[in-house]
Amino acid sequence: MELEANLPVAGALISKGKHMSITGKVALVTGAAQGIGKAIALRLAKDGADIMLVDLHQEKLDAAAAEVRALGRRAFTYIADVSRLEQVTAAVAFAEKELSGLDIMVNNAGIAQVAPLLDVTPEEVDRIMRINVQGTLWGIQAAAKSFKKRGQKGKIINACSIAGHDGFALLGVYCATKFAVRALTQSAARELAVDGITVNAYCPGVVGTDMWVEIDKRMAEVTGAELGATYKKFVDGIALGRAETPDDVAGLVSFLAGPDSDYMTGQAPLIDGGMVYR
Ligand SMILES: NC(=O)c1ccc[n+]([C@@H]2O[C@H](COP(=O)([O-])OP(=O)(O)OC[C@H]3O[C@@H](n4cnc5c(N)ncnc54)[C@H](O)[C@@H]3O)[C@@H](O)[C@H]2O)c1
Repeated sequence: MELEANLPVAGALISKGKHMSITGKVALVTGAAQGIGKAIALRLAKDGADIMLVDLHQEKLDAAAAEVRALGRRAFTYIADVSRLEQVTAAVAFAEKELSGLDIMVNNAGIAQVAPLLDVTPEEVDRIMRINVQGTLWGIQAAAKSFKKRGQKGKIINACSIAGHDGFALLGVYCATKFAVRALTQSAARELAVDGITVNAYCPGVVGTDMWVEIDKRMAEVTGAELGATYKKFVDGIALGRAETPDDVAGLVSFLAGPDSDYMTGQAPLIDGGMVYR
């Protein structure tokens, strides 16, 4: 009876029928020409956002942008190397100008690297650190400055990985970059909360994109495994019994970009079909 008397109060705390839309918002997605980035761009467009697609390849960007426009949203493309701060800053400025603002920044671009820790060279380490770590940092900087300038409570979403939670053999430096992305996500969340900016990351498992074609090929070179064998070994270890699709990842990013995640910051949730448990 007493519990029942309290129910209306508890019920009042639940906002019924909250509109889960990002209609009219502007999202910038890096690495949007293919793979996970392209799926994210299309999903956020389906959710109602206009999209700035950023990558290194104009033709592929144009094709992805055409798919966004076919969904009825505005789309622009911009060529930028995320490892270059001035290019990322320029991409954000282009979004502000052409799409009249920026609300959601998805720092998705990244590269993989397969090499035994004892063989990896300074040049290889430098390259992946510049793209995966500095690229994410420049994206956080450029987006946060843009949000703060306009008093905008924006969302920053970074590409992490199962490799940001566990160290994997022959992927050691890649793992180091993704652990670093998780560190940047946590620190940025703490620094930017005062401005109403949230910073989260998504951690996919084994997604069937060109990145895994490359990982499988390099693993074959390094270990002598047959082509396809490393990919199969990893997929066989997934509890849900199948490889992940870019759309599986985009679903989580949709949540992180939308109002249902407003009270979440500094997190790096796993979406991997059951590989790494935290
Ligand atoms: N594929 C997976 O299994 C997997 C798993 C976990 C995390 N991730 C992460 O997800 C992100 C996307 O991966 P994907 O599988 O779609 O890879 P992908 O190789 O298919 O696509 C990556 C895109 O990023 C672009 N890119 C690379 N370097 C860039 C740079 N310096 N500047 C701008 N664009 C650049 C590429 O041109 C490409 O279009 C990466 O950060 C990756 O580390 C992938």
